[in-house]
Amino acid sequence: MAHYKSKKITQLREQLLAWYDRSARDLPWRLPPAQGLKGQRPDPYAVWLSEIMLQQTGVATVKTYYVAFINRFPTVQDLAKAPLDDVLALWAGLGYYRRAHHLHAAAKDILARGGVPTQPQTLQKIQGIGPYTAAAIAAIAFDQPVVPVDGNVERVLSRLWLIEAILPAAKPIFWHEAQAWMSTHRPGDFAQALMDLGATICTPRTPACNLCPWQSSCGASKQSRQGEFPKKQVNKKKPTRYGTSWVHIDPDGVLVTKRAHSGLLGGMLEVPSTSWGDDPSSDPCLGPVDLPKGVTWLDGGYIDHVFTHFALRVRVFSAYSPKSLPVVGYQRLGLDALAGAALPSLMHKIIVAGRSILAAQSIGLDQV
Ligand code: ADE
Repeated sequence: MAHYKSKKITQLREQLLAWYDRSARDLPWRLPPAQGLKGQRPDPYAVWLSEIMLQQTGVATVKTYYVAFINRFPTVQDLAKAPLDDVLALWAGLGYYRRAHHLHAAAKDILARGGVPTQPQTLQKIQGIGPYTAAAIAAIAFDQPVVPVDGNVERVLSRLWLIEAILPAAKPIFWHEAQAWMSTHRPGDFAQALMDLGATICTPRTPACNLCPWQSSCGASKQSRQGEFPKKQVNKKKPTRYGTSWVHIDPDGVLVTKRAHSGLLGGMLEVPSTSWGDDPSSDPCLGPVDLPKGVTWLDGGYIDHVFTHFALRVRVFSAYSPKSLPVVGYQRLGLDALAGAALPSLMHKIIVAGRSILAAQSIGLDQV
């Protein structure tokens, strides 16, 4: 690295750390700034758990889930010995359910290893931990000199240095740029300071440059080109998939079954549903063969849901039977147990839609 740049980086690091000392977000998995200088470290289990949750979910949502998780499973032992279904139920609503499967398997692995590994290379051997998460855990939990690079960090660095390279192909370039900031001086605080700067000041649309500790050094701010960075390949439009779901309610609750462990929404509960296909005009009335027989289905129109790689449009039918109607291969989930069940957000939406169709027709009013 050119000498001038290394001197500049030292100055910028100090400015950012001073800003972090004043402005760090108060997050439940985090120690206040500068505690590392007094020899204090956060609980590595807490750091690992929070980083897994934060992989695809925003801080605001993660906070609530994190607190519920840490209260229910205060140690890695508690998590390792819990049934997977309990973990999935607590994860319900957070999305990307493969994370919960990996988390559970990883808890056993971490226990067998005698604790959370300290080095990024070893951390990456654990399920669910990629290069970013490994760097984040190593820096935050163990003050290892690495710089985790996520979308926030890419945005901050691309604006600061006017990096024109186009993402996502340019990810290795950004990774390399970020490691130039590597230092043994408060690496955990530095990593979190970069995250906070990206999340609270150097935001995608209207960055608060006046409050930024790096304003006078920022190439994009000087040229009023913040909106141009980072340069990104324009997204292809997501395909839409179509399916049909049936919400059947009887006095024992709503009819559900558990999805296969592998694949999307793995191990979570669902109401009877077709698979999701590309054809919007396939006949939904055929339905799964194991639907309750002899009930009148009300057509509730469509609900829309967005996954990472496709949009989903589900046609919802619903019915109420005043007598218990067990169905082989399915279970009943009491309506008062919906909130604590392993139901993904998509299924909550479908059930809400199904129940409102029945309510609108005053069907099973006291039940649904
Ligand atoms: N995003 C990912 N990891 C984070 C962390 N530890 N703190 C704040 N935001 C984050």
